[in-house]
Amino acid sequence: MKSFSYANPTRILFGAGQIAAIARQIPESAKVLVTYGGGSIKKNGVYEQVMAALKGRSVAEFGGIEPNPTYETMMKAAEAARAAGSDFILAVGGGSVADGSKFLAAALAYDGDEPWDLVTGKAQIKRAVPLGVVLTLPATGSESNCAAVITHKGAGAKLAFMNPAVYPRFAVLDPETTLSLPPRQVANGVADAFVHVIEQYLTRPAGGMVQDAFAEALLRTLIAVGPKTLADLGDMDARANLMWAANQALNGLISVGVPQDWSTHMIGHELTALYGIDHARSLTIVLPAMMRVRQEAKHDKLVQYAAEVWGLKDGPEDARIAAAILKTEAFFRELGLPVRLGDARLGIDAAEKVAANLAAHGLVKLGEDEGVTPEVAVQVLTMAA
Ligand code: NZQ
Ligand code: ZN
Repeated sequence: MKSFSYANPTRILFGAGQIAAIARQIPESAKVLVTYGGGSIKKNGVYEQVMAALKGRSVAEFGGIEPNPTYETMMKAAEAARAAGSDFILAVGGGSVADGSKFLAAALAYDGDEPWDLVTGKAQIKRAVPLGVVLTLPATGSESNCAAVITHKGAGAKLAFMNPAVYPRFAVLDPETTLSLPPRQVANGVADAFVHVIEQYLTRPAGGMVQDAFAEALLRTLIAVGPKTLADLGDMDARANLMWAANQALNGLISVGVPQDWSTHMIGHELTALYGIDHARSLTIVLPAMMRVRQEAKHDKLVQYAAEVWGLKDGPEDARIAAAILKTEAFFRELGLPVRLGDARLGIDAAEKVAANLAAHGLVKLGEDEGVTPEVAVQVLTMAA
């Protein structure tokens, strides 16, 4: 395990009724911009709770942030924020609203001409307007990490950036806000969180005993609560565990000091940019094939995964690995998610297109050992056909 420093500055407010507590987290003098998506918060009572908590404050709002938030939409949000003189952003929604708002926070504090440069890395994020998040969809962990993924429609690109300046100051996780989620979004969230853990765990042994054991506990929890939440949509205990697990999956804790992969995510982002497929669904198509293609490099961790997550401890190692991958696929299928390109009505031609876009975006040495080149991505998507 390598040396590391760990300090996640996001204050977590977990549990029913916690939206009321946001007033104490936002300076009284702040001019707040409430950002949200396509309107789910206006149908499930979350908007009213937020506005009640902010009563008497200076509040403006910007709605219409789409799933896979775009640069184009967030530039409109920047205009609205400037017009209102906003100096605090409150993102209310899922990962897309959180991510879009992080980009907005950085764009508002940027002096240069082209904020897209902050996403590509051409320009450095040095500061950001402070933001908080009221989360309504457990999935991305965006509510307490410093990453965001933004789509540039004009350029046909979906790219991620990370910067400590965009850590949310606080995140409200009230599982009751998730009751209005369509089952498809619940399933997506379970799978996204699952793959987040996998990409920080299924690499090579690095002696991170706490990180490994915590990752395995998160995976087992997601395997247990995912189907349970879908089978009984009113099971609040399952929802609470799902919300906490998804948060812990990508708040930076399990990746400290150990190698990370992220190749499944980068290939998934290209699939979404090309075909508009839901983020989580791009991952469930890529991951099982990635495990198969990268079996040699990931051998030791795959054996550990088979044993600790799926209880597969007997027989030849290769047979255990094969069985663990089949169990992973069966878990995704049980959630109603695609595990082949064809399940999402995509053809094998996707492989070359994704590879070309990875190359165009400079994503040519992915994985814990930089072994996932565009050629390997083609192998993976061919395996997923
Ligand atoms: O827009 P509204 O009307 O709110 O509806 C949303 C949206 O249609 C709906 N929804 C959210 N909460 C709801 C609800 N519907 C009813 N009741 C509720 N309580 O769900 C739909 C999907 O929302 P979205 O925010 O797009 O989903 P998710 O949270 O899965 O976020 C996906 C985005 O996050 C990025 C993905 O690439 C994608 O763009 N990611 C961000 C990461 C990060 N910042 O760390 C990491 C991830 O790997 C991921 O890449
Ligand atoms: Zn993800």
